Amino acid sequence: MARVRFYRDLGLTEFYRRPVSAEQLAQLTVEPDEPQATVVQEENAIPPRKPMPAPPQVASLVPAAERAAALQLIRDEIGECTRCALHTGRNKLVFGDGDPAARLMFVGEGPGADEDAQGLPFVGKAGQLLNNMIAAMGLRREEVYIANVVKCRPPGNRVPEPEEGATCTPFLFRQIDVVRPQVLVALGATAATWLLGSRQPLAGLRGRVHPWRGAQLIVTYHPAYLLRDPRQKKEAWADLQIAMRELGLKPPARG
Ligand code: URA
Repeated sequence: MARVRFYRDLGLTEFYRRPVSAEQLAQLTVEPDEPQATVVQEENAIPPRKPMPAPPQVASLVPAAERAAALQLIRDEIGECTRCALHTGRNKLVFGDGDPAARLMFVGEGPGADEDAQGLPFVGKAGQLLNNMIAAMGLRREEVYIANVVKCRPPGNRVPEPEEGATCTPFLFRQIDVVRPQVLVALGATAATWLLGSRQPLAGLRGRVHPWRGAQLIVTYHPAYLLRDPRQKKEAWADLQIAMRELGLKPPARG
């Protein structure tokens, strides 16, 4: 039922034979008026101001049964990280969460206040919307893997600085290489920029598949941006449908 809210926001109410009760909708509503977990820059803003390091070579395939342990090794190596300045304001490091052998992975920007408190990615308002987006694709959150460009909360939820992204993304690349998702969704300009290693406006990256490190990379809007500008949800849904097509997931049945 979590997908109802996202579909309704898209104006796709005809998918439902039975009307959705007010009670159900109330449960699914993400209140747009409250402060957002993450301040996301203008979606076409290009965050890094310095050259980005080249990504590491793609690691060899880890058997699915060994991926949880391989991720734990990366987590252990990160430890109580002090590699960049973000550690000074951190409560909990947010490593990543989900199925270590997921076919679909999402990459966001960095933890917000809720994530910093809980040590888990996308558990605040933007996370509620991401959960609804995942449900709209016919998947459960536990079936996907979710991580961020940086693992510690930037002060005031600002965009990660180039040094911070450059310090943290090697671990993200290793997580991606372990999970080996078939489809990777970059949520917003920061994720797209750090994954693709180039500064391009989001508009030019959305709506198509980028073959990338053995995965099909799809770029879409960050959920926090969608909370600020819900009119873009239709565009985001179009991007997610590309991901579904790549995964062989059926589009939702029309009523
Ligand atoms: N925004 C992000 O980019 N990541 C999170 O984990 C939460 C909010």
